[in-house]
Amino acid sequence: MADFKTSPGTRDILSPDSARWRAFQGVFESTVEAAGYDYIIPPMFEDLDVFLRLGEATDVVTKEMYDFHDKGGRHIALRPEQTASVCRAFVEHRPTTPWKVWYSGPNFRYEKPQQGRYRQFDQVGIEALGVDDAFLDAEVIALAAKFYSALGLRKIELSINSLGDSGDRDKYAKKLSEYFAKHESKLTAESKATLLRNPLRVLDSKREPDQEIIIGAPAIRETISNESREHFEAVLSALDALKISYKINDRLVRGLDYYRRTTFEFVSTALEAAHTAIGGGGRYDGLVEALGGPPTAGIGFALGLDRTLLACDAESVFAAPLKEVDVFVVDTVDGTHAHELCHQIRTHGFSADRAYDLRSIKAQMKAADRSGARIALIIGSNEVENESVMLRPMGSGEQYVVPRQDILNEIAKYTIKTNI
Ligand code: HAM
Repeated sequence: MADFKTSPGTRDILSPDSARWRAFQGVFESTVEAAGYDYIIPPMFEDLDVFLRLGEATDVVTKEMYDFHDKGGRHIALRPEQTASVCRAFVEHRPTTPWKVWYSGPNFRYEKPQQGRYRQFDQVGIEALGVDDAFLDAEVIALAAKFYSALGLRKIELSINSLGDSGDRDKYAKKLSEYFAKHESKLTAESKATLLRNPLRVLDSKREPDQEIIIGAPAIRETISNESREHFEAVLSALDALKISYKINDRLVRGLDYYRRTTFEFVSTALEAAHTAIGGGGRYDGLVEALGGPPTAGIGFALGLDRTLLACDAESVFAAPLKEVDVFVVDTVDGTHAHELCHQIRTHGFSADRAYDLRSIKAQMKAADRSGARIALIIGSNEVENESVMLRPMGSGEQYVVPRQDILNEIAKYTIKTNI
């Protein structure tokens, strides 16, 4: 028999972690919906061309894309992120602006798997299209910061930079090329190769010999236009007004090529060096146009769910919610009483679970413990005869008899009604 296991870089998320994921998504949903963002569900795969807009010299496009030809001969890719899909959706549906959306779901990148780096990883994120206002940049950043703090995270640092507009970026790329060319002999072979494709990417290198050269590299903000500089200053003062602390990082260019002007990244100082970036984003004012739409401003961020939960572990916050069920029915007669009572209880808006296969009362009580039930209802032959049940508040060591017709009122004393 084949030994079936998950493919490298993918995982099964089982309970209680799966409940923690849903709670995480729930906190994100309430944070961003309170600021007017609507939910969008983009498809998990698109024409490869949509994602080529992330930058033909980026690792995401050149090395990590899951692409294939489908049976109709289309060149398809599993989405490596969702910003490009949101912009494609904007071009396709032309919603009124400002268009503020949020999303949650898996993305796919063929990376070398390690802790905090997976081939299928979940992100939650927001995108806001059609607004150039610096207050929006600050709002987007503030929502990310608010979300981290709602999870209980404290050891988070925000880095911010401006990449200028597209003209500034090209000027800067030229300046960087000249600088790195002068020091080429000291760069690593990897960075020499990157330099030919995209000099900005060299700034991302964490390798020691490259770092020595990167430190002296010109900063992008020295070359940006006055307009971009003013926008950046307005973003910073809007952040100051909300008392959001940040570090300006001249070398922050991020791994995708669509960024213009404001870019930012959140790092967890509680995590090991390899996967400290737990979220990031910025403006991508040319992306809608590159996808065939009208010139449209855009900004957003995405944060890695898997990695942010690792940061939560490192700070011992946002534990998995406790498993809970209102009632556990223990039937030692023949199982039909549990069958009917569970149905009746669930129909009236309470949650109920039970054991199967007529296990011993001891085994059923153990299952009741594991279920997180508040109360157990025990039915033996005496109870059947007297049309009653034995009610045991879990963990109390007490129990008492309740007439069968009063059972729903009695359950209500211990529980809050769930959805009916
Ligand atoms: P990104 O920096 O590529 O940006 O990804 C955002 C976050 O996703 C990262 O900070 C990290 O937490 C998580 N992440 C990325 N790759 C992996 C991986 N292989 N395994 C686990 N987590 C990972 C974007 O994706 C942009 N779309 C963000 C954005 C939205 N910019 C503007 N709007």
